[in-house]
Amino acid sequence: MSDDSTIRLERFEPELIDGVPTASTVEFLKAISRGFHESALDADGLKILAGLEIADNTTFTAVYDEVAVQPSLHAEAPVATYASFPGTLNIGGGNLMPVHQITSVTVSPTHRRRGLLRKMITLDLAVAREAGAVFAALTASEATIYGRFGFGRATQRARFTLKTHQGAPLRAEAEGSVVAVAPAELKKYAPAIFAAAHARTLGSVSATEFDVGQAAGLWEDYDSLKPVKNLRAALHLDAQGKPDGFMSYLFSGWKADPPTMDIGQMCTVTGAARRELISYLGAHDLVEKITGRGPVDDVLPTSLENSRAYKATALGDHLWLRILDLETALTARTYGGDGHIVLRIEDSLGMAEGLWELAVEDSAASVRRAPAESEPAASLDVRDLGSLYLGGFSAAHLAEAGVLKVHAANAVQTIDTLFATAAIPYCQADF
Ligand SMILES: CC(C)(COP(=O)(O)OP(=O)(O)OC[C@H]1O[C@@H](n2cnc3c(N)ncnc32)[C@H](O)[C@@H]1OP(=O)(O)O)[C@@H](O)C(=O)NCCC(=O)NCCS
Repeated sequence: MSDDSTIRLERFEPELIDGVPTASTVEFLKAISRGFHESALDADGLKILAGLEIADNTTFTAVYDEVAVQPSLHAEAPVATYASFPGTLNIGGGNLMPVHQITSVTVSPTHRRRGLLRKMITLDLAVAREAGAVFAALTASEATIYGRFGFGRATQRARFTLKTHQGAPLRAEAEGSVVAVAPAELKKYAPAIFAAAHARTLGSVSATEFDVGQAAGLWEDYDSLKPVKNLRAALHLDAQGKPDGFMSYLFSGWKADPPTMDIGQMCTVTGAARRELISYLGAHDLVEKITGRGPVDDVLPTSLENSRAYKATALGDHLWLRILDLETALTARTYGGDGHIVLRIEDSLGMAEGLWELAVEDSAASVRRAPAESEPAASLDVRDLGSLYLGGFSAAHLAEAGVLKVHAANAVQTIDTLFATAAIPYCQADF
């Protein structure tokens, strides 16, 4: 029986030698598939995935059980996986800040609830903080896992359906045009469109090579790294003919009732690109419904002649944000107004723990540790500061939820004046 003394944690970079993934890379990737109950990848799939991980500069954290012997898979395979890679986060005001992105977190059922996730994440966050990372981010399979490590819900995403029996006519005149393209063309156009949308969208993280390949139909998902059959694609051109949006989509087949177009990857730089691409999709004869994803304040219902054709069918958390370096994070942000506040931050990992003073004067922020005798106007956990930071959740909301404790009469108003944002944050990337 293994115990803590027989557990070995290793951090390494995925590797291809002469185009073939190394044994430790393969075992790590296979363990992720098992952890998420996905289909086993064949040799080609493993090679593609290893190449994508390398392109993203991913670091693997693996845990091995040194007493596992054949026939246990864990004689070779890790019992736990965890991966992290660098990206950028749009924090508003056109500011793209480095973000430490976490993914591929799995622990084998044979080794669950023995603290392996805790070991991997506390080590990785400490290494990231030491290396100067200001934020960490992830998307969560369950909402109950990561709050304890200081991650808060920062952005939300909606699923929607759109009835298209009568097409999807728009209220506004077209500002550009839509062209049908072969999905493979998106390999060329998607990177610039992803980058332009990222630069403009508060809360977004940078796209990866996986996203570009998925848009272009090179693969559907991590458990099917094979070209997607029957994918269709369209590009939106602005009034000057410059591409500013794309979508790739699949027909449900005639057995589906009603016949539906399902949007896979879609990315738009402007509202015109989003509404005009959707209207184009709605103009497909014989199709009665569109399904897709978008921001909570999607422009679609307001854009459409028939606003009720759009229906948000689900609303869920998407990006979870962890502030690793509070001073840099708060100094880098742009604020909705001038003001001054002292906050007490609780952080079980200690990184942001303590009393902090934020002062914004003529739009310039200064942040420093407040003297020990200072009276905080409010107290909150660092996970809730993650929710507040991008403007997705207000202090009033957090106070109503009982997670922001108010100690001074004007605290909520002051925080909400400071942290007000011009937009609701939105992150479309999955990782
Ligand atoms: C989620 C998962 C990685 C947890 O790994 P683990 O090694 O069992 O977790 P740990 O033992 O380190 O638990 C650390 C803490 O998180 C809690 N926790 C772990 N998983 C949890 C879950 N699914 N729901 C609620 N709490 C959870 C533990 O109770 C423990 O709490 P405490 O330290 O505050 O007492 C593992 O269950 C798993 O592989 N799940 C399937 C894949 C998945 O969902 N991965 C996450 C992708 S975002």
